[in-house]
Amino acid sequence: MPVSWIGILLVAGLASIGSCSAAAVEYDANAVIINGQRKIILSGSIHYPRSTVEMWSDLIQKAKAGGIDAIETYIFWNAHEPRRREYNFAGNLDFVQFFQKVQEAGLYGILRIGPYACAEWNYGGFPVWLHNIPGIKFRTDNEIFKNEMQTFTTKIVNMAKEAKLFASQGGPVILAQIENEYGNVMGSYGEAGKSYVKWCAQMAVAQNIGVPWIMCQQSDAPSPVINTCNGFYCDTFTPNNPTSPKMWTENWTGWFKKWGQKDPHRTAEDLAFAVARFFQYGGVLQNYYMYHGGTNFGRTSGGPFITTSYDYDAPLDEYGNLNQPKWGHLKNLHAALKLGENVLTNSTVKSTKYSDGWAELTTYTSNINGERFCFLSNTKMDDLDVDLQQDGKYFVPAWSVSILQGCNKEIHSTAKVNVQTSLIVKKLHENDKPQKLSWVWAAEPIKTPLHGRGRFKASQLIEQKAATNDETDYLWYMTRDDSKKIFHPHCHSMQYRVDNNKTASQNMTLRVKYSGQFLHAFVNGKEIGSQHDYGFTFEKPVLLKPGTNVISLLSVTVGLQNYGEFFDEGPEGIAGGPVELVDSSNTTTNLSTNEWSYKVGLIGEGRGRRFYDPTSGRAKWISGKLRVGRAMTWYKTTFQAPSGTEPVVVDLQGMGKGHAWVNGNSLGRFWPTETADPNGCDGKCDYRGKYKDSKCLSNCGNPTQRWYHVPRSFLNNGSNTLILFDEIGGNPSDVSFQITATETICGNAYEGSTLELSCNSEQRIISGIQYASFGDPQGSCGSFQKGSIEASSSLSAVEKACIGKDSCSINVSKTTFGVKDSFGVDNNRLAVQAVCTGYNENDEENHTQKKEN
Ligand code: GAL
Repeated sequence: MPVSWIGILLVAGLASIGSCSAAAVEYDANAVIINGQRKIILSGSIHYPRSTVEMWSDLIQKAKAGGIDAIETYIFWNAHEPRRREYNFAGNLDFVQFFQKVQEAGLYGILRIGPYACAEWNYGGFPVWLHNIPGIKFRTDNEIFKNEMQTFTTKIVNMAKEAKLFASQGGPVILAQIENEYGNVMGSYGEAGKSYVKWCAQMAVAQNIGVPWIMCQQSDAPSPVINTCNGFYCDTFTPNNPTSPKMWTENWTGWFKKWGQKDPHRTAEDLAFAVARFFQYGGVLQNYYMYHGGTNFGRTSGGPFITTSYDYDAPLDEYGNLNQPKWGHLKNLHAALKLGENVLTNSTVKSTKYSDGWAELTTYTSNINGERFCFLSNTKMDDLDVDLQQDGKYFVPAWSVSILQGCNKEIHSTAKVNVQTSLIVKKLHENDKPQKLSWVWAAEPIKTPLHGRGRFKASQLIEQKAATNDETDYLWYMTRDDSKKIFHPHCHSMQYRVDNNKTASQNMTLRVKYSGQFLHAFVNGKEIGSQHDYGFTFEKPVLLKPGTNVISLLSVTVGLQNYGEFFDEGPEGIAGGPVELVDSSNTTTNLSTNEWSYKVGLIGEGRGRRFYDPTSGRAKWISGKLRVGRAMTWYKTTFQAPSGTEPVVVDLQGMGKGHAWVNGNSLGRFWPTETADPNGCDGKCDYRGKYKDSKCLSNCGNPTQRWYHVPRSFLNNGSNTLILFDEIGGNPSDVSFQITATETICGNAYEGSTLELSCNSEQRIISGIQYASFGDPQGSCGSFQKGSIEASSSLSAVEKACIGKDSCSINVSKTTFGVKDSFGVDNNRLAVQAVCTGYNENDEENHTQKKEN
């Protein structure tokens, strides 16, 4: 008997008001049951604020084309409630519209309300005002927190109900999540943590949404809430209730990136292996985290130090391009799994081991008609041959799962990639000439802070979030030694002036205990140094002059912590310090309770910290000689949008660290000078063996992030404005706008199959075949070589089929290549390497004709 969801009784009532018919979402251990239909669900995460409204449909369609059934997203509390009870659901925060598009595409939705998200999102999704409420304790049995969490959860649920988003109302949402991976940190919260989990479940269930609630990584999830698994592999996971389906809410398709780190890569083979293993071991629902990672626009990246790109090496890249072969290989896997859906969701299971236990055959036999469906896995690092007697002999590559329809026909091998590999490049559009950008600049007015004058004062070093409400990355802490309040520890409470009686300058050390990410220190108007890390002690020699000395410290956040027990309580900024002056005899003067003056944000950030108008203060744009390599500088230019419709990026090579805006839209933080470690990219990437985020790295020694996404919807046809703020000094002379395009594509296919090649854009065509060989070609994409035999018409046949088209398919057969039956080897194969080029719009007719032929 399937488990009926608690709110299912509501279904009939809610259905009568819905435009689409209500669906009952039920489940048992072997299936999610939607309107009586037993299903396995393949889902993918796309976070709505990490792209633009204009991108949503395309992303969702590409997910659908990739064989995805459901789209999953968190809800991001701090984006929706930036100030207490002031809500924002506009633009790409319109989660209702996002789910409506999911439904229009015929897909299901999974709503992870949290409202704690983690997600490499600033402060894990918590608003900073929440932290600033006196007496609050996050994620535990604290009335103030629970009230706020309930208020927000109810707000989201009510909005979803009003828009009839739940399946029980005819909408797409089949599951909702409360909290997020609390089980990972719960131990640190003691008994209060346990009662908090119970409260979360009760509070969620009482929302009566008519579809099941889930909690991830929560082995004590109170029934009826279903606990689910997150990780690179979840095959061995079992839910805490025998009637719950085995669900995997986060299958990490790659990994996120921090400033200074290399590019992560999880191979298509290993990802497919993990998915197939999960279904081999009774999985019911699997979600890719991320299916499209996207971009951390504005100041939404968490961390600290998470990059602006949240590409994640996901099946759809940051810009929405197909990440091939990952996207296509998973698509093939999904198609194979769906062929087994009826059997998998209602069957008896048996397992048999082969090859000393390294190979395992899992046989699902349908309880209805006896039909069989098998998974044959090999967890060894070596290939195996497995003899299934009357069901055939199988070559099972190392670290792979073969899916056998009817248990005797291989329909997929996770280690055999039969789809194209695409090399996506950033380049000037073929129709565009290089633009020589002309720049104006403005210096951020810092004289006032350098003179120690801020907006408010306190005799303590204030925690940064408390001072800024996190409305800006920037906080100035300033003090002057003529304040007469300098505290000297050796003289206990005696107060005295540091240097007033001195007649000569004195060498001292300025020491700052720092809990933020980036600190710039100035003494008497001169920068004495800057440093960045995960909290550190800053120490620099300073020459103090007789009389008044001014110390100005600019603390910069690079995303707030998003994960860990009590992560929300970690101090930011100089937060209590101490800030000290140490003289040559090691005598320390503690300045922490000195009178400190504060200034929140930059002048150029303007009102409401919208970050794009440096002239809102006293600064003026200057068009003379360009100021380069100087900290705290604003730059402005105008530019034409690149031709075509492909995704646009701005190359910020040459810039230091700061923030970028196009036509007032934030592109996020930039930091091209922060490079990845030069070592550790050996070019080798073995898909075999357990993936971890230190495997298969690339981009050593290069800027962690050089290109920044400029969504097409930020651009207009005429003139566009780019504003850059550089905090550490840079040179915009090499900044340029480019498109991202599939340039080189490679394919491989065996005789008897079809090779599909695509430039992944209607605006690009296959303009040349660099290599084509039917026979026994050797090597791989980028280094194919002729083998011992090759059909002489290889190149001409492929050219005929593909040149001038945006996609083509070739039957890999002897007939296609006009060779005799006796030609070649047993296993002839076609390897192709082709080039895609943007076609000139004048050639439109020509192109269309070729396509039609
Ligand atoms: C999980 C978390 C996600 C995300 C992921 C790493 O632990 O639930 O929100 O942070 O790790 O990308």
